[in-house]
Amino acid sequence: MIKAVVKGVAHAVPNKILTNADLEKLVDTSDEWIMQRTGMRERRICEPHETTATLATEAAKKVLAKTETSPTEIDLIVVGSVTGDYMFPSVSCIVQNAIGAKKAGAMDVGAACAGFIYSVATAAAFIESGSLKKVLVIGADALTKYVDWTDRSTCILFGDGAGAMLLEAAPGSDHGVIKTVMLADGAGAPLIDVEVGGNRYPVGSPQAEGRRTKIFMAGSEVYRFAVKSIGDACCRVLDLAGISSDDVDLFVPHQANLRIIESAAERLHLPSEKVFVNVEKFGNTSAASIPIALSDAESTGKLTKGMTVLTVGFGAGLVWGANLIRW
Ligand code: UT7
Repeated sequence: MIKAVVKGVAHAVPNKILTNADLEKLVDTSDEWIMQRTGMRERRICEPHETTATLATEAAKKVLAKTETSPTEIDLIVVGSVTGDYMFPSVSCIVQNAIGAKKAGAMDVGAACAGFIYSVATAAAFIESGSLKKVLVIGADALTKYVDWTDRSTCILFGDGAGAMLLEAAPGSDHGVIKTVMLADGAGAPLIDVEVGGNRYPVGSPQAEGRRTKIFMAGSEVYRFAVKSIGDACCRVLDLAGISSDDVDLFVPHQANLRIIESAAERLHLPSEKVFVNVEKFGNTSAASIPIALSDAESTGKLTKGMTVLTVGFGAGLVWGANLIRW
């Protein structure tokens, strides 16, 4: 059997830092409230010249350098993102050109904060089928470009960034992607959205009049969905693999809120030393959050070869899913 093994992971974030103290100057909030309710201390924010594609390209170049891989070896680039530079072309095509991946196909996967989970599942399926050998998987978003800086319930949450992972075919290996699950419930679509910009309410059209141009989120409904969906996706993927949460060495969830992560870990009976958290540094970076966390965990020595890693994501759609990976 061919496995999709992880050759490397890297991340890129903007230099500009937005702290809780900075947010105190924008809206009626406090460092204490933000820390208590979300665990966030600061996040990275794009300057106008920085975009989802520039961050994705930087992360891609880093992972290629780290794994000593030539861009011409890449068969496919899959980018999980909902904040592309343009309506079209895709972020993946911009990255393909920027890194010189001359033999690669390129596609974007729109699954919001579960974008990296869905992208890894897609890449792994192509590799496991024997169709492709090397796939560059990227999670990248610049949600702060769609933040309403007067809405205290959302503007404190988001940051920008990108993470890239190189997956490679390894026949007979016992490393790599073990199992994946992808789930969705479109009935929850109105809970998180940006209405204007798509085809229903095109920018500047009469239909767009009075519609939301910035991020809307029904916070407490999404909170409840998040805790339930993490448990749901993780239990399913563990069941599929025939293992229990005791066999998980590191849990790397989407970094949306420390309280969500803690209650999900409790439901899964995972002790805090097995749970990776960096939400205090980057906030919620949407599809980038899991690969940034994996890269951060690896560079700080918390994620090492041979570990069984459980990753889980959830977000607008609603979508959710999990990947179980032997590192
Ligand atoms: O990645 C996609 C998935 N997204 C998520 O997973 C996010 C899920 N939701 C959350 O993380 C939480 O719901 C929030 C962090 C967004 C909000 O936390 P909460 O504990 O659910 O607060 P709440 O919405 O129930 O609001 C409690 C109070 C309200 O005041 P009243 O009505 O009780 O007087 C809010 O107006 O906190 C108020 N509030 C704030 N106060 C200070 C809301 N935002 C702020 C703020 N600073 N930034």
